[in-house]
Amino acid sequence: MSKKKIVALGGDGIGIEVMDATCAILEKSGFNLEIIKPLHGAAAIKAQNNPFPDESKDLCDESDAILFGAAEGPSIAILIYLRWLLDNYINLRPIKYYPGTHSPIKDPEGTNYYIIRENSEGLYPGREGDLPWMAQNLANYKDPFGRSLDYYGAGKFSLLLTTEKGTQRLARFTSDFAMKRKAAGFPGKVTCITKSNVLSQTGGLFKKIIEEEIKAHSELTFDHYYVDDFARRIVRNPQQFDVAVTTNMFGDILADGAAEVVGGLGIAPSACLGGKKAYFEPVHGTAPDIAGKGIANPTAMILSAKMMLEYLGMQGEADSLEKAVAEVYRKGISLTGDQGGKATTKEFADVVLKHIR
Ligand code: NAI
Ligand code: MG
Repeated sequence: MSKKKIVALGGDGIGIEVMDATCAILEKSGFNLEIIKPLHGAAAIKAQNNPFPDESKDLCDESDAILFGAAEGPSIAILIYLRWLLDNYINLRPIKYYPGTHSPIKDPEGTNYYIIRENSEGLYPGREGDLPWMAQNLANYKDPFGRSLDYYGAGKFSLLLTTEKGTQRLARFTSDFAMKRKAAGFPGKVTCITKSNVLSQTGGLFKKIIEEEIKAHSELTFDHYYVDDFARRIVRNPQQFDVAVTTNMFGDILADGAAEVVGGLGIAPSACLGGKKAYFEPVHGTAPDIAGKGIANPTAMILSAKMMLEYLGMQGEADSLEKAVAEVYRKGISLTGDQGGKATTKEFADVVLKHIR
């Protein structure tokens, strides 16, 4: 089998640190990968006054998959390319408990579900402007109280978009994904999360399309919770979920909360799929409060690489990497500060590498 070509973009802050640690594992483990590290971020700004030069984008386009750390400031250009311009409309976020991780709840055992976040519309990317402009251009619009928008005076607005096309493609991915999980022994239960009691048009359309798609598959079951109720349930009883699907901002917020229940942001990986080229990134950001200290937990990045290996059809390698991580947590050796240990990013990664069989 020819080597799979991977592009690694650390980004900024701890993104760079967790990426270095993860690439070291992938390189030393002997997996059949060629890892390319294009110029990007602060180094690219310094060299070319451009956080994401065209040559780096070309390398992404020519790769089999992309690993991404996290970005802030001008490097957000990288994220815009990977998420929006490559049109990766699915953000798949596993919420899985590995015994030994630092969960704040009494009984996290058995938590193993996915949040599928719509990644291309909703309230992101901010489509915003001045409220008086909106009032002028929507002169005939009346809100639920019969008021026109000029009643509200100066201020700002954000647009929340729920499109039929965008929700249908998400619904198809969700049913396929839940069917695959069902075939692997999971319940085949899809939970839709909206605020359709208040946002009856946008939330209502999202719920209707997901519900129709899931109910067209007799092997799957469908349920629905309002987002505030769901936020409570993922803390109280996270074991009850299998596949949860939601809109962009709710998915962004809920995934951080859900991640905390199974040990924190240091552990939560994700995959961004559906577009021209898939990329894999931790849920966390650049963590300015700990950046540069070499103490970030690289697990989220390592498990994102595990999701990438799965996507590339390298299931055996994905399993070995996940088993190594799980074993290190089970033994509780060499853990980072967020997990109650004292190890550095590199020390943790070295121990994971030693556990790869
Ligand atoms: P954050 O996820 O960077 O950090 C939140 C908290 O979690 C911090 O206390 C941090 O120290 C801790 N944390 C995060 N990852 C950790 C790890 N691997 N090990 C140990 N502790 C970890 O979120 P925050 O502070 O809201 O955002 C910081 C910057 O990151 C912002 O500029 C934001 O826009 C950006 N960001 C970028 C993302 C991306 O590139 N995909 C995603 C989220 C945030
Ligand atoms: Mg987020």
